[in-house]
Amino acid sequence: MTSDNRFYVTTAIYYANAAPHIGHAYEVIGADVIARFNRLLGKNVFFLTGTDEHGIKVEKTAAKHGLSPKAFVNEIAEKFKSTWAYLDIDYSKFIRTTDPEHYETVSALWKMLQEKGDIYKASYTGLYCSGCETFSAARDLTPEGHCPIHQTPPEAVEEENYFFRLSHYKQAIIDHIEAHPDFIYPAFRRNEVLNQLSELEDISVSRAKHSVSWGIPVPDDPEQVIYVWIDALSNYITGIGWPKDMTLFNQYWPADVHVIGKDIMRFHAIYWPAMLMAANLPLPKTLLVHGFITVSDTKISKSLGNVVSPEDLGQRFELDNADPIRYFMMTSTGFGQDGSYTDEEFKNRINADLANNLGNLLNRTLNMLNKYFEGQVPEPDQTKIELLDKNTLDDIKAHYEGFRFNEAAQAIMEQVDKANKYVNDSEPWTLYKDGQFQTLANVLYSVLESLRQSALLLSPLTPILSRRMWEQLGLASDLEQAHWDWILGEPLKPKTQTCLGAPILPRLESEIVGAGKKK
Ligand code: ME8
Ligand code: MG
Repeated sequence: MTSDNRFYVTTAIYYANAAPHIGHAYEVIGADVIARFNRLLGKNVFFLTGTDEHGIKVEKTAAKHGLSPKAFVNEIAEKFKSTWAYLDIDYSKFIRTTDPEHYETVSALWKMLQEKGDIYKASYTGLYCSGCETFSAARDLTPEGHCPIHQTPPEAVEEENYFFRLSHYKQAIIDHIEAHPDFIYPAFRRNEVLNQLSELEDISVSRAKHSVSWGIPVPDDPEQVIYVWIDALSNYITGIGWPKDMTLFNQYWPADVHVIGKDIMRFHAIYWPAMLMAANLPLPKTLLVHGFITVSDTKISKSLGNVVSPEDLGQRFELDNADPIRYFMMTSTGFGQDGSYTDEEFKNRINADLANNLGNLLNRTLNMLNKYFEGQVPEPDQTKIELLDKNTLDDIKAHYEGFRFNEAAQAIMEQVDKANKYVNDSEPWTLYKDGQFQTLANVLYSVLESLRQSALLLSPLTPILSRRMWEQLGLASDLEQAHWDWILGEPLKPKTQTCLGAPILPRLESEIVGAGKKK
């Protein structure tokens, strides 16, 4: 395997303090689309996701549930795994920060930072927000002295802690950001990081065991626990074996894309690069920073009672697979922007794009094929037309490569529109009546070929619906093994027996209940 044929994508790891909601789903679906698209390009993809299981937040929540932290995180990790399975997330590894090998990675990294002289002990007085798991400077708080994200007052902490010489890496990080325009994506986020860098101080990277016991102990100082963000960020290298088994690490590091939300950009764009520089490891190529999903324009929060889980959504609309959720989440707004979920928009978009536009085209084309050609792909002649041109295909590829999944989907839907319009304009039923069988064969062949291409093009977004299309088109090859080059290079073979089945997606009809209501 050559090094540019491999691709490493990660999600943030999710705090194991509550079950996943559609905001988390949004991120992991984005990473899964990236992974599937790169597999379709023939790359060797490693896709890491998992749970962040240490820290005060988790410790407190477990206690509230009357469980030990470990028993509690075991339950939550299972919930994440089952939701990921429901969403068809095809990850390579699910990492948990309570995995024994992760303890070894974090300890080894700590020792490297220490040997470098970047860890020192000092006493500290500060304000800690357990929601963010971070010390907050007074200037970052609201006028009432609350955390701007969690709207709660941080706790005053006075301890002797270990510190990491973050300030030492300030200029190197600024230089890196300026020399690597792809490092922070989308580019409009870059300035926020550069502003944060202008006031960079060293950070406390441990807590006294008496205030946080649920974490990885500082090597050689069991009275101190390693700061949860140092622990969490290291997951990206534990996941590929560092430092114990370097085979995967040597192939896959540096990561191509860390997919993260805008609220944790600082940790990924400043702390993580500094840690890697201190350990003499290369930096990840791209931080793909996405926006926040709200429900009916309201922040997803337990206290507001608007937490929508992907499974709830599926149940409410009686979905038999999660592709509509995947498709809606990836296409309702650009991946860098904030987005809002409402039942109404979900239903309308899924019905318009997937049930009507795409599903009906397949259904009516295969019905005509049954009627006119006994369900067999007809033999076209030289005068048949190609509905997909190379430029459009390249545009779609560029959209996927640029993480513009909404624009990719829109361009694919335009192909589907084009094919629908072509059927309407060419009136196969009239061609049949008039006995123009070669023209009829050409028309149906072109539309079937367009459907095959759409199935492939959509497969990173809607793997199950694409497979249903693939099967009904009578394609024997495994869609999971398909290659991007097949889009133009492996046209349908005449005489292939298609098999008309149920509509790939029944129209969504459910009443709007719960989450769609405006608060
Ligand atoms: O921050 N919309 O965990 P987390 C979109 N453990 N994305 C959302 C979201 C929403 N409504 N809510 C959360 C943590 N996210 C740390 C990460 S990584 C080394 C450690 C995203 O469970 C959020 O932006 O609070 C983040 O990228 C991910 O879900 C995990 O958030
Ligand atoms: Mg969070």
